Amino acid sequence: MKTIGIDTLGIYVPRYVLPLDTLAQARGVPVEKIHLGLGARAMAVAPPWEDTVTLAANAAARALAQAQVSRDEIGLLVVATETAVDHAKPASIFLHDLLGLPANCRTFELKHACYSGTAGVMMAAEWVRSGSARGRKALVVAADIARYDLASSAEFTQGAGAAAMIVGENPRLLALDGVSGVYARNVYDFWRPLDRREALVDGKFSLSCYLDALDGAADEYRALTAGAGPLLERFAAFLYHTPFPKMAYKAHLRLFEREWTRAGGDPAGLAEAAEASYAALVDPALDAARLVGNTYTASLYLCLAWLAEQRGAQLEGRDLALFSYGSGCCAEFFGGRLVEGSARHAAGIGLAAMLAARESVSVERYEELSRAGSAGGTPPADTRAHCFFSGVTDHKRNYERTASV
Ligand code: CAA
Repeated sequence: MKTIGIDTLGIYVPRYVLPLDTLAQARGVPVEKIHLGLGARAMAVAPPWEDTVTLAANAAARALAQAQVSRDEIGLLVVATETAVDHAKPASIFLHDLLGLPANCRTFELKHACYSGTAGVMMAAEWVRSGSARGRKALVVAADIARYDLASSAEFTQGAGAAAMIVGENPRLLALDGVSGVYARNVYDFWRPLDRREALVDGKFSLSCYLDALDGAADEYRALTAGAGPLLERFAAFLYHTPFPKMAYKAHLRLFEREWTRAGGDPAGLAEAAEASYAALVDPALDAARLVGNTYTASLYLCLAWLAEQRGAQLEGRDLALFSYGSGCCAEFFGGRLVEGSARHAAGIGLAAMLAARESVSVERYEELSRAGSAGGTPPADTRAHCFFSGVTDHKRNYERTASV
């Protein structure tokens, strides 16, 4: 079978960040609830000149620059988002223009809450595997701005960002194992009616839907790979969709308990073994999510970027488990190997540097930016972005380039 996977990963997050201890103080919430209860420290705040299109295009520009592939090599462009900018016109066609992609390139937008980035990656991999790509590559971009009502309990789990993935043969980062366990069920755990900018969520129910979907997807993956040994022994890291870091902890404990019980492990040793497994196999991937917040479709790939950039040297040649969850719901459990040489390639992602260069905002400024939403505007001259959203005229959105992308 051909080796197919994620060749290059580009990440982009807005320049503004709100430390969550200040928000906790402003809302009268104990800071320990946020730091320990949710595991979150800060969240990215999108200014009015950033929307899903600019986040996606800025991440994609970074991926293309790092991969050093010519625009003509991209034959498929997919933008996955649950915070689209138009009901009919897909975000992908704006990217197609901003990135200067060839006319003979299939483009469309995908939606299934936080899951659709993975749907895009899997579809792109199949496109390559089937031969339809004719040697070309796919660009899959997951981008979102997570917004809930101000002063709601979900407010602390907002965030914004994008992950762009170039998918092709002989990837330099992550080779997919080609097997997926999937799970789907119609539930109302998180949704955003067409007339609303902020999402609605049945918070506690959403946690249980996530965990049920993990059971279902992992069960199918295990069944499809029977004979490859216990799940917990196969992978050097487990990456989970991370709406807030504590969710990844809950997910791993659930998976661990089920695997432990299945293997006839001593119940008395379960708690300690599960904590140790979480600390070794999950926690190292979560630092970026702790500082960015929920990026919906991009969340899983933000974790992958962080792990590959920070731990790439130790993990080269090792298998990772990935779990993607989208409310509503659809989920997928799959595996991939960080290929030999991937650490050097992953060092080019530049995520730690991007996070370190952000500007902290006060709660007042965050509320001001939040109320303005994605109204458009002009960024300060020193922006790191390659394009921005300048506003709407005659019901049409205008995007400007700040540099060659
Ligand atoms: N010190 C330490 N911990 C504290 C504390 C304190 N003073 N006070 C509370 N906590 C703990 C609680 O015990 C709880 O921990 P456990 O879950 O381990 O028991 C944690 O802090 C959160 O407390 P609550 O459950 O009381 O918090 P909440 O009512 O504010 O709701 C939430 C939390 C449901 C996650 C809410 O933020 C929310 O609705 N977020 C959006 C929905 C979401 O992210 N769902 C995730 C699954 S769905 C999905 O993954 C798709 C997606 O991206 C949205």
